[in-house]
Amino acid sequence: MHASAPGKIILCGEHAVVYGRPAIAIPLNDVRARVSIIPGAPGSGVCFDAPDLRRRWLITSAPHDPLSELTLAILRRFGVQRMPDIEIAITSDIPIASGMGSGAAIATAIVRALASAYGRNLSAAEVSALVYESEQRFHGTPSGIDNTVIAYEQAIWFQRRSEPPHQIEPIAIAEPFTLLIGDTGVRSATRLPVGEVRRRWQEDPIRYEALFDAVADVVYQARRALAEGDRAALGPLLDRNQALLEEIGVSSPELERLIAAARSAGARGAKLSGGGWGGVMIALVEPETAQQVRQALQAAGATRVLETIVQAAA
Ligand code: PMV
Repeated sequence: MHASAPGKIILCGEHAVVYGRPAIAIPLNDVRARVSIIPGAPGSGVCFDAPDLRRRWLITSAPHDPLSELTLAILRRFGVQRMPDIEIAITSDIPIASGMGSGAAIATAIVRALASAYGRNLSAAEVSALVYESEQRFHGTPSGIDNTVIAYEQAIWFQRRSEPPHQIEPIAIAEPFTLLIGDTGVRSATRLPVGEVRRRWQEDPIRYEALFDAVADVVYQARRALAEGDRAALGPLLDRNQALLEEIGVSSPELERLIAAARSAGARGAKLSGGGWGGVMIALVEPETAQQVRQALQAAGATRVLETIVQAAA
C-alpha cells in the first residue's frame, strides 16, 4: 500500500491564524512525504522505517512517539483488535522544521496508507482531523492550517473558530503566479516561535491583537489580489506581512538576508513563511525574473531554492 502527501507553504497570515485571524496556504506538490506499508514477519508487530529522519523503531519500544501514537489511534479507530505485523516505510523530500509542513505531510501519508491498507475511505476532513490530533501532541496550539491544506491538497483560506468546523474555503486564483521558496538552512521547530508569540501576547495583548488585526487586513487584500489576478498588488502585501512578522518577533537575520536579496534582484515582494526564526522565505517573481532572483537567493546563502507555480485547482 502506498500513499503520499504534499508539502505546503503559508502565503500570508501565519501566527495571527493561531489567534482566529484568516490565513492563506498553498500545497507544494513538488515535495512530498511517501509512506508504504509492507507486510512484516509474523510476530514482528508494527515497525517504522524512516531513513530520511535517520530513524527506525518498533511501536512497542516507542509508544509515545507522535507517529506511534497516531498509528495506534488510527488502528483503534478502524477497530483493529490485534497489532498487525507491518513495516511502515516513510520517505520524504520535504525539509524538516523549515515551515513546509513536513510533520503534517508524513502524518497525512500514514493516515492515507493505513486507510487504504484497511479498505477505509476517509474524507479529506477526516484525514485532516486525525492529523490535527497528532499535531497537537507535537506543537501544543496548532491553528490547524497545516493539516487542512495538506489533506485538501488545494490552496485554501483558513480561519480558525473557537469550535470546529473551522472556515475552510478554496481560494480563487485568476492568474497563475510563480513563487520561489528559499531555505535558510536554519531548522526551527514551530512550537518555539509559537510559544514566544503567546508569551508576548499575554504580556501585551493590546499591541499583539492590533498586530494580528493588521495581518488579517493584509490577508483579506491578498485574497482580493489573487481573485483579480493582480500580482502588482500581491507583492507589496507580502512585504507588508513581512514587516508585521518582524514586529511580531518571528523573523531572523538569515531570513531577512534572503528577503532583501530577493527584493533587490527584482522580486515583487518577499516574506518569511511558516513559524519563522529559520526555515523558509517566499518571493513572488515573474517568469522573467525567476532566474536572477534564484541566483541572488543562492548567493545570499539559501541552502535550497524551490520554484512553484500556484494556480487554481483543476
Ligand atoms: O508549521 P509551520 O512552521 O509552517 O508554521 C505553521 C504556522 C503557524 O501559524 C506559525 C502556526 C500554526 O499552527 O498555524
